[in-house]
Amino acid sequence: MKQRLIFALDVDSLAAAQRWVEILAGEVGMFKVGKQLFTRCGPEVVRMITAAGGEVFLDLKYHDIPNTVAKAGVEAARLGVKMFNVHTLGGRTMMEQVVREVAAATAAENLPLPIMLGVTILTSSSDSDLDEVGIAAPVAEMVPRLAHLAQQSGLSGVVASAQELGLIRAKCGDDFIVVTPGVRPASAASDDQQRIVTPAQAVAAGADYLVVGRPIAKAADPVAAARAIVAEMNSAVPSQ
Ligand code: C5P
Repeated sequence: MKQRLIFALDVDSLAAAQRWVEILAGEVGMFKVGKQLFTRCGPEVVRMITAAGGEVFLDLKYHDIPNTVAKAGVEAARLGVKMFNVHTLGGRTMMEQVVREVAAATAAENLPLPIMLGVTILTSSSDSDLDEVGIAAPVAEMVPRLAHLAQQSGLSGVVASAQELGLIRAKCGDDFIVVTPGVRPASAASDDQQRIVTPAQAVAAGADYLVVGRPIAKAADPVAAARAIVAEMNSAVPSQ
């Protein structure tokens, strides 16, 4: 289960990121690097994490013309990230091209193939936000629709809230990876997350990976908090 826990490195310096990697490298499976940290530190932060033995989920949500996204994906693979994501609203051609070019480059250069994920509709978007940009279908219809398009285009999974897990599993089956943020241990504060689930609920609902930030970062004892989350995740599956 430890391998399925992703720590959100929501910090603004290489030094702060390095401190967290030293503390948590043995406790979590991956570190999520997002737009803030990457814009601040660049690829150096990814190299720092991998040099320390950690794995990286590069959360840059690429959304551009197919050629540009494919080239960015190839560079992410060359950097050695374990996972990266693209916006499914970029469309089938964009997703197919990034999958194809990353597969070709990693095969040619003998590199590991990263897990390529899609972002469907951001959880910050409501039905009326979609309507305003000309998308008449509600979020609950768009999320499984875009997840299915991602699957047909060759992506391995999506990032989605636990509320969306059922819809996605029904449409895409069990072999499609779902990475779920918005997770709060039973004892933690909800922060600004609106629709939260516990680690056990997320795993029981079918999440493959959980993204957790503040419940670990803000805990008095972050290592104990990470271990408690892994224990909660374990409690959701019957023992072998
Ligand atoms: O601190 P917290 O556990 O809320 O951090 C969750 C992480 O997951 C943050 O990096 C946040 O940007 C990300 N995320 C999210 N909700 C989404 C997508 C990503 O909270 N729908």
